Amino acid sequence: MKFTVLNGSPKGMTSVTMQYVRYLMREFPGHEFVIHNISHGIKKIERDRGAFDAIMNDVKSSDCVIWGTPVYFLLVPSQYKRFIELIRERNARGHFKGRHSAVLITSIHFFDNTALTYLNAISDDLGMKYAGSFSADMYDLMKSEQRKKLSTYFEGVVRQIEGGMAFSRAFAAVRKSTFRYRPGRPKGAVNTWNKKITVVTDCTDNSSGLRGMIDGFCGCFGGGVEVINLYDIDIGGGCLGCCRCGLDNECIYGDSDGYINFYNSKIKTSDAIVFAGEIKDRYLSWKFKQYFDRSFFNTHAPSIGGKQAAFLISGPLSSIPNLRQILEGYIEMQHANLVDFVSDEVNNSRELDSMIRSLAERLAMNLETGYIKNKSFLGVGGTKVFRDDVWGRLRFVFRMDHGYYKKHGIYDFPHRQYRTRLLNASMSVLMVIPGFRKAFSPKIKKGMIRPFQFLFKDNNK
Ligand SMILES: Cc1cc2nc3c(=O)[nH]c(=O)nc-3n(C[C@H](O)[C@H](O)[C@H](O)COP(=O)(O)O)c2cc1C
Repeated sequence: MKFTVLNGSPKGMTSVTMQYVRYLMREFPGHEFVIHNISHGIKKIERDRGAFDAIMNDVKSSDCVIWGTPVYFLLVPSQYKRFIELIRERNARGHFKGRHSAVLITSIHFFDNTALTYLNAISDDLGMKYAGSFSADMYDLMKSEQRKKLSTYFEGVVRQIEGGMAFSRAFAAVRKSTFRYRPGRPKGAVNTWNKKITVVTDCTDNSSGLRGMIDGFCGCFGGGVEVINLYDIDIGGGCLGCCRCGLDNECIYGDSDGYINFYNSKIKTSDAIVFAGEIKDRYLSWKFKQYFDRSFFNTHAPSIGGKQAAFLISGPLSSIPNLRQILEGYIEMQHANLVDFVSDEVNNSRELDSMIRSLAERLAMNLETGYIKNKSFLGVGGTKVFRDDVWGRLRFVFRMDHGYYKKHGIYDFPHRQYRTRLLNASMSVLMVIPGFRKAFSPKIKKGMIRPFQFLFKDNNK
């Protein structure tokens, strides 16, 4: 069988993910593997139609396309996202249609689920037969049982293709509405409390609904909101994945482009950031992805902590819960406060006027009170994954994170809780005694609320 591997790593073949592919090539010499370095070669693929067509020729002559990629910022690298957008822009979807697809990703299992969902849904949208995924931790390949699992997974893909098994679509197609928003007159200025509000956008069409949303939002404040277009920033390219930033938060691009200066001088100094973008396939644009990926020079420490954040989104957000989760997860991991999302999935412009007004008012209210909502599982779980990895195997490369985590109490491992450890040790011994267990069990419910008693001392009198 012929497998065309679309390599999403900007590192080309010096990629962790590609070591997994190399392993499959070694284990299954009877199959043909053709690898295209998509992210590494994206500039050529964009510029040179011949380079793009060569990839398409392999896609259409293969039995299965393998989306092989690292996870970057809860999705795939921006260069890979660009390629996925090119498939649509260049009307090349037909080459993928009816073909099998498989996903092989490596990561540290931080929101690998959202990247997997994205690639599954993209396969569905391209009309492919999705034969499943393998999500590996970066270093899984070191373990013999994981190598065996990878081989079993691959054999399963081959058997599914050989057997002509049926595949169901996991994600319904998203429908774009033709509604175009035109903002009405603002109803008087919302107080900014002298705080700096910045809108970041990739909007290039001045007659678009997204432009209307930005104008409508800025109009609520009667001026004083800065709008920054990502296309006006000199961004030399996507994140290259070199991880040099881990050592001292210095990006390999340095001053050779304008990104770092823009991020430090505009984003970090804002009190509220409003991201305004249009949905492209099942995410925002590749340009927005590039913005997120390049912010990796801050590595695993939050760079917009304590700020207010909101999203103005043009497109079918409510049909893509995965995108919502990605953006929520991102904001929670940044220790920022997500005020809300507003999308243009409405019936008329007046309805959207009020939603945007309400967003502006709630954002201003939070700027006044400094409210940061508690993290949900996304932020709590994600922080624990980072905490363990930065404390452990990533520490010597991501030195800056280690310092930050120490200083900000992110190393909150349970082993430091001496009172709890003492309690666990003594109670675990007592719980072995059947009589103690019997006497203890009816007291559990009341015991759970006992710690709150100090709050209600007066009421208990
Ligand atoms: C910019 C950047 C963003 C990353 N984002 C994530 C992430 O969101 N989730 C995760 O689990 N790993 C993330 N990683 C780790 C990579 O996914 C992981 O190291 C992967 O194995 C690298 O594969 P590659 O060498 O094939 O590029 C990120 C790494 C970089 C450089």
